[in-house]
Amino acid sequence: MVDVSVDKKSSVPVYQQISRYYRDMISQGKIAEGYRLPPERTLAKTLGVNRTTILNAYRDLKEAGLVAGHVGRGTTVLPPSAAPESAAGEVQPLRWTQLLRQQTATPWEGIIRDLHALTERKDSIILAIGLPAHDLIPAKLMRETLDALVAERGPEAFSSGPCEGVFGFRAALAGLMGQRGAPCDPDEILVTTGSQQAIDLIARVFLEPGDVVVVEEPSYFGALNVFRQAQARLLGVPVDRNGMRVDLLEPLLQRHRPKFIYTLPTYQNPSGALLSLERRRRLLELAYRFRVPVVEDDIYQDFSYDGDPPPTLKALDTAGFVIYVSSFSKTLSPGLRIGWVAAARPLLHQLVLAKQLSDLHSPTLSQLLIERLLISGDFRRHVGGLREAYARRRETMGAALRAEAPEGVSWTKPAGGFYFWCRLPDVSQAALMARAGEEQVSYLPGMPCFVHERSEHRVRLSYSHCPADQIHEGVARLMRAVRRLPRVSDPTRGRLAETRALV
Ligand SMILES: Cc1ncc(COP(=O)(O)O)c(C=O)c1O
Repeated sequence: MVDVSVDKKSSVPVYQQISRYYRDMISQGKIAEGYRLPPERTLAKTLGVNRTTILNAYRDLKEAGLVAGHVGRGTTVLPPSAAPESAAGEVQPLRWTQLLRQQTATPWEGIIRDLHALTERKDSIILAIGLPAHDLIPAKLMRETLDALVAERGPEAFSSGPCEGVFGFRAALAGLMGQRGAPCDPDEILVTTGSQQAIDLIARVFLEPGDVVVVEEPSYFGALNVFRQAQARLLGVPVDRNGMRVDLLEPLLQRHRPKFIYTLPTYQNPSGALLSLERRRRLLELAYRFRVPVVEDDIYQDFSYDGDPPPTLKALDTAGFVIYVSSFSKTLSPGLRIGWVAAARPLLHQLVLAKQLSDLHSPTLSQLLIERLLISGDFRRHVGGLREAYARRRETMGAALRAEAPEGVSWTKPAGGFYFWCRLPDVSQAALMARAGEEQVSYLPGMPCFVHERSEHRVRLSYSHCPADQIHEGVARLMRAVRRLPRVSDPTRGRLAETRALV
């Protein structure tokens, strides 16, 4: 009898634990061709899980071409690269998943793709995604600037460029860093294909399997998934309205010596929290004492609605420990795919080497365009307007929540950024997602933003992307869904992670 066991507290869904177990057993030759997997019902009973969990696990194995199901014979292990029932002479399709490197199973690995797919949906109100509103992308300004740029530079505007980024653009970025209180040289900057690539490159150059990374809880799911894929061990530090609980950091640094700390001090995604100046200083003191670099993800810096945020960690850093990451995806357009890293030269050198393997360089046209917008002052003026527009959207969502939220829903008004981070009463998370789908509204469930599964029920509502006049209706629909669901004692029941997709 195969000795499969599961950890129900793990952030890896149980069905993935089971399918992974059988994958390992098959690839290590411990169970052979023809071996019959336990009947679904029996295994479900043995493990104390739902039968659907076993069905999902076996489906995974079937998709990987490792097992086949036959009526009456159950589920059996196939021979390696077997081509069952092939007609003579006919070339069977490849079993791709059998050939591919095994990916680290992450419960929400498809989430970014799912969120982006949502933008195509015209039939529902999208509170799930933190992309800019279409009407706040400065298309006219960018078109005019591009016209002038192409007229002047001709084909050069479309040519390839240096891996670290166009020099003039990096000089303009150094100027922007100066405005953000952290002046640096152009050669301390690497232009990346969005800040997502910056996070990925950082993971590539730092992390080996088993390395520890300290993250906030909650945190940006896109970064958590990168670190998980690198097989890092994530240690979460809770966030309150003043940002990361830096008071809890010291013992973690002492005990685990992480490779780096990943933080979003300014209008955190998803919680909207703003790290206080005192905590910023303390965080740096601890980083210096334990000699741990700090990755500062500062993509929401320009979206302050109640006065300026405290200085960035990069601006406060006197010893070069901070790796600063930011992007133009929220201010100008995500499709330009331009972000950057400002960091110490030796690190930057390694990041450039990693980037050349990844995509050679970031889009030249986007870099030249943004360089002009920065130098002309158009960028600064545009951001001033944005702040007002997004502040109005924040008010609209706040008012909608006050009007529509039933008892048991709570939130803190964010001082900046794109999100309300709401706590919901104990309704089943899976049922809420299904009901919200019926109501034609989407939101981001809180779970992907945590290292470990939580019993508290959180959702992130974005006021950035959907048309401003739909924000109230979107909140009303979601709150209607919340109101109509029965309260349960275990809100994680139904294993939301197993629904796998948001769309
Ligand atoms: C905190 C944070 N970091 C990084 C990113 C990645 O953005 P991009 O690659 O478009 O710059 C996002 C996107 O939403 C984000 O919210």
